[in-house]
Amino acid sequence: ASTLAGAAAEKGRYFGTAVAAGHLGEAPYVSTLNAEFDSVTPENEMKWDAVEPSRGSFNFANADRIVSHAQSRGMKVRGHTLVWHSQLPSWVGNLSAGDLRTAMNNHINQVMGHWKGKIHSWDVVNEAFQDGSSGARRNSPFQDKLGNGFIEEAFRAARAADPAAKLCYNDYNTDGVNAKSNAVYNMVRDFKARGVPIDCVGFQSHFNSASPVPADYQANLQRFADLGVDVQITELDIEGSGTSQATSYANVVKACLAVTRCTGITVWGITDKYSWRASGTPLLFDSNYNKKPAYTAVLNAL
Ligand code: XIL
Repeated sequence: ASTLAGAAAEKGRYFGTAVAAGHLGEAPYVSTLNAEFDSVTPENEMKWDAVEPSRGSFNFANADRIVSHAQSRGMKVRGHTLVWHSQLPSWVGNLSAGDLRTAMNNHINQVMGHWKGKIHSWDVVNEAFQDGSSGARRNSPFQDKLGNGFIEEAFRAARAADPAAKLCYNDYNTDGVNAKSNAVYNMVRDFKARGVPIDCVGFQSHFNSASPVPADYQANLQRFADLGVDVQITELDIEGSGTSQATSYANVVKACLAVTRCTGITVWGITDKYSWRASGTPLLFDSNYNKKPAYTAVLNAL
């Protein structure tokens, strides 16, 4: 096949990208999206601060534009994200434990309910673990007031809210075998053993020279898959350029294809023009929407 989505589909995978609603009026942005990708993740529009800026007051309009675009083109949608310490409005952090529990469950119910049946996978909880060697949970209003159990409570609420959606735990710096990924692994193993609903683990895969594609990336994906969950590459970007960037991208694709339960890859943006890494050139299309060597390497690896 001659497109990312087409080539991935031949391997039974989706190939997605993060999309920002504000760019859907830009012709080359939309034509590249439509030509190359079959899954979209709203880059910011489904986050708590975007959809529930004040308690009980929901705004779905920007994310709806992305979901409508995807649906009209037959693309899948990844939901990102329900419970996260960042892009969290301050009112959430000011609640008592009891109110926070109610607000978290209501947020999950309302947001998942709004798009019920339209989201193939939801990042139910994002980035709940600390970096470094401790394997500890990260401080957040949820962790600090509700304790470790907030994660399983969120997943149980999510299953009830949209039983058709795959429920994912998503994080970064968990791409190789390390203390942080070990901690996530132990949580997923425990969830599977106790019947807590979890279907997938997302590996953000933001790479650069300080944090390159790990040599044990495939082995790490495989050990999670062996727990009985799907794995997905959810926010892939790799800083750099030319052949070395292309080789790294190809290695990511090969690792996913080598793991039967690696069901899809999402890059964190279409074009370097709008990457969240403002100083870098981490994506597959340059700022003029030209295909980079990394694009060709991905297509050839698929
Ligand atoms: C980023 C977006 O790309 C930026 O536009 C925003 O300013 C900050 O968030 N991990 C995640 C994503 O799970 O939601 C983040 O997205 C990148 C890191």
